[in-house]
Formats: sequence, C-alpha cells, structure tokens
Amino acid sequence: MNHLTHAAARRAPDAALPARPSIDAKALIAAVEWAIGSRRSIRAFLPDPVPRATIERLLDVARRAPSGTNTQPWQVYVLTGAARQRLSAAVLQAHDDPVELARHAEEYDYYPHQWVSPFIERRRKVGWDLYGLLGISKTDRRAMHAQHGRNYGFFDAPVGLMFTIDRVLAQGSWLDYGMFLQNLMVAARAHGLDTCPQAAFTRFHKIVAEHLALPPNEMLVCGMALGYADESRIENSLVTEREPVATFTRFIDD
Ligand SMILES: Cc1cc2nc3c(=O)[nH]c(=O)nc-3n(C[C@H](O)[C@H](O)[C@H](O)COP(=O)(O)O)c2cc1C
Repeated sequence: MNHLTHAAARRAPDAALPARPSIDAKALIAAVEWAIGSRRSIRAFLPDPVPRATIERLLDVARRAPSGTNTQPWQVYVLTGAARQRLSAAVLQAHDDPVELARHAEEYDYYPHQWVSPFIERRRKVGWDLYGLLGISKTDRRAMHAQHGRNYGFFDAPVGLMFTIDRVLAQGSWLDYGMFLQNLMVAARAHGLDTCPQAAFTRFHKIVAEHLALPPNEMLVCGMALGYADESRIENSLVTEREPVATFTRFIDD
C-alpha cells in the first residue's frame, strides 16, 4: 500500500471541511511545502486592502489547529481602517516618548532575561542582517528606534490582528496558540498574502487593551500584520537561516 492508496490520504472530510484537492500527490506535497516554506516575516506591505471574506476564510482554516482537549484558546481582533490607525497612532506616541515608554512593560516573558549561546548569536544575526539591508549602522540608535516603530504601524499592512488568551489558561494553551498562528500565516500564503507576527505590541498591552476594550481576563499574546508584500522594499529580501535537521534531531532506534 503506497501513500496514495493509504486510507489516511483519502480521508473523507466532514461535510463542512474542504475536500482533498484533486491534484496528484506530488503537486499536493509541493503546494503544502511551498505554503510553509514561502512564509517569511514581511516588514513592508502594499496599501491594497484584504477582503473581509478572505480574512474570515483564513481564520476558518486556522481554527482547525489542534489544542489540548480541544480547548481552542484563541481570541482574535481584526483591525482595519480608522480603528487600525487609531491603535497605531496611540502606540507610536508611547513608543516615541521616552517618559511614556518607561511606563510600559511586557506582561509575559517572550524572551529569556539571560541570553546564552547559540540563541544570542542567532538573535543578533537576524537583527544585524535586517538593519544591514536597511543601511542602519550599529551605532544609529535613532534609525533603529524608527525601524522598530514600524511595527506599530503594522509595517503599513492594511490589516492588523491582535490575539488574546484567557488568563486562566496555562502554558500548554500557548503551544496550541502557536499552531493556530502558524496555520493562519501558512493559509495566508495560499491567498498570495503575507504576514509578520508581532510580539512588539506586548510591551504596549495596556494601550491595546484599552483600544480593544478587552475584558480583564484576556491577555495580549501578540499582534500580526497581514497584507500584500511590497516586493520592491529591501527589507523584504531578508531570508533568515535555519539550522539543518541533523543539528537538532537525533534518531534513536536501539
Ligand atoms: C511570536 C512571534 C513574534 C514576533 N514578533 C516580531 C516583531 O514584533 N517584530 C518583527 O519584526 N518580527 C517579529 N517576529 C518575526 C521573527 O523575527 C522571525 O520569525 C524570525 O526572524 C524568522 O524569520 P522569518 O519569519 O522571516 O522566517 C516574530 C515572530 C514570532 C514567531
């Protein structure tokens, strides 16, 4: 029995779920691997709007993510138009005012307090690769601050997404959340759309909470820019490295 005749490959979908596309196995593999492999963090978008039906479709696909005991911890806010601009303006104001900036801090640790090898080297490399492309030198703090600030305008994307989680949920639900976010970003590729996941917003969770009228039990996980990439922009030529499989995998069979 090969993979084409294997029952799992033909799996009869629920009536509400998409059917297996009628393309050969090679094309199916290529399509899935292309969608995953072509996802990159895009940091300059075109102003072209994303139809609401497309956003709903992406979320409809993303919600098939697995979650421990099917708890589905995701809660999504979609900001477009004036609402997106209002939030961006408020966060940027705080980002650009040193006194105000000092009043904001992340609610959860995305990163370790103490960096160690090999993570610190990888972190530095991606940062300098991006700044290098943009012609920002290591001493130009103003330019770095301005580039970081582009996060808060969602890198000009027409859609800004905010993701929250119920505070009652535990670490496992954050794993589930990552799968949901990745589903969304990969599904976006199939529609010719791009994304940038954004932890940068977490520092300004109080401003986000105010603008979204979040109930106290909801905590900001991250933001995400969604739209069409401006391929003419140099920052979008950044292709990040990955370690080869052999460096992070051990096959153990005896
Ligand atoms: C949860 C999450 C949050 C991130 N937050 C930011 C962010 O705030 N700003 C940003 O420019 N990139 C952000 N990134 C993008 C990472 O820098 C990027 O994924 C990494 O460098 C690998 O590059 P790639 O996404 O292009 O493959 C984030 C990524 C993840 C997964």
